[in-house]
Amino acid sequence: MLEVINVSYTYPSGDTALKNVSLKISDGELVAIMGPNGAGKSTLVKHFNGLLKPSKGKVLVDGVNTTNMTVAELSRKVGFVFQNADHQLFAETVEKEIEFTLKNLGLHENLEELKVKALEDFDLIKYRDKSPFSLSGGERKRVALASVLCANPKTIILDEPTAGQDLVQKNNLLELIRRFHSEGKTVVIVSHDVEFIVDINPRIITLVNGEILCDGDVQDVLANKMILEYSSLTPAQITEFAWRICEELKPLPNNIITVDQLIEALKTHIIGGSL
Ligand SMILES: Nc1ncnc2c1ncn2[C@@H]1O[C@H](COP(=O)(O)OP(=O)(O)OP(=O)(O)O)[C@@H](O)[C@H]1O
Ligand SMILES: [Mg+2]
Repeated sequence: MLEVINVSYTYPSGDTALKNVSLKISDGELVAIMGPNGAGKSTLVKHFNGLLKPSKGKVLVDGVNTTNMTVAELSRKVGFVFQNADHQLFAETVEKEIEFTLKNLGLHENLEELKVKALEDFDLIKYRDKSPFSLSGGERKRVALASVLCANPKTIILDEPTAGQDLVQKNNLLELIRRFHSEGKTVVIVSHDVEFIVDINPRIITLVNGEILCDGDVQDVLANKMILEYSSLTPAQITEFAWRICEELKPLPNNIITVDQLIEALKTHIIGGSL
C-alpha cells in the first residue's frame, strides 16, 4: 500500500512541485499518473521509493514512513524506472547492468535464470555484451526497465515507459504490465500516452500544477473534454472520432474510448436508429 498524506515538496531551488497532495494506492492496483509537463508527476513518484522525501506531510510504503527508510531498503519493495534511462545506467555491459541489481538485492541463487529471463522479456539477448551507452535511446530504456524489473519488485513505478518505444516494444510493454498486474503487483505508470493508457485500463490520477485534478477510471477521465484540456492530454483518436460524429451527425454517448464502444454506439444510435 502506498499512502501520500498531505504532501508538499519544494526543490532546493525554491520551486514547489507538489502542493498538499493526498492519495492512496492499494496493493495490486494499476494506476496511471497523467498531466502536463512540469505538473509534478515525476516528483510525486520519486517519493514512492524514497528518492525524494516530503517537505511537508508524509509518505507511507506498507505503513512505514519513507523518512525512516533508505532508498536501498525501499528498492527491495519498489522498483523504479526513471523517465530518463541515462540517469540509472552505469555498467560496462547490458548483462552486468542486470547482474548488478540482482547481486545488490542478494539474489545470488537464481541469478542466471533471472538475468536471462529479463534479457528475453526486453528483447535484449543480442545486446547482452554491449555497453548500454552504445545503444539507441529506446534500447537504453529497455535496459533500464530490465535492470529494475529483473528483481521482481512487489511495486513497480514506470516513469514515461513508452517514450521513444516503437509499436512492437509498446506492445511488449503492454503485455508485461498486464502480466505484472495479473500477478498481483502494484503498478504505477506516469504517462502522456493516452492510447497506451486506454489499452491498460488503469485508475487514472491527473496532476496539474502540483495538485490532483481528478482521480477516476479511464472512462471518467479520458472521455472528459474539460479534464483532457486542463491536463494537456490529447484525446484517443476513437474518442475524437466519436465527438465528431456527435457534432456532425447524431448525439452519441459522450464517454467513448474504445473501438468496441464506438461500434456498439453506432449500432444502437445510428444504424439501428433513424439515420
Ligand atoms: N531537480 C529539480 N530542481 C528544481 N526544480 C525541479 C527539479 N526537478 C523538477 N523541478 C520542477 O518541479 C516541477 C515539477 O517537475 P516534474 O519533473 O515533477 O514534472 P513532470 O510532471 O514529471 O513533467 P514532465 O511531463 O515534463 O516529465 C517543474 O516546475 C520543474 O521545473
Ligand atoms: Mg516527469
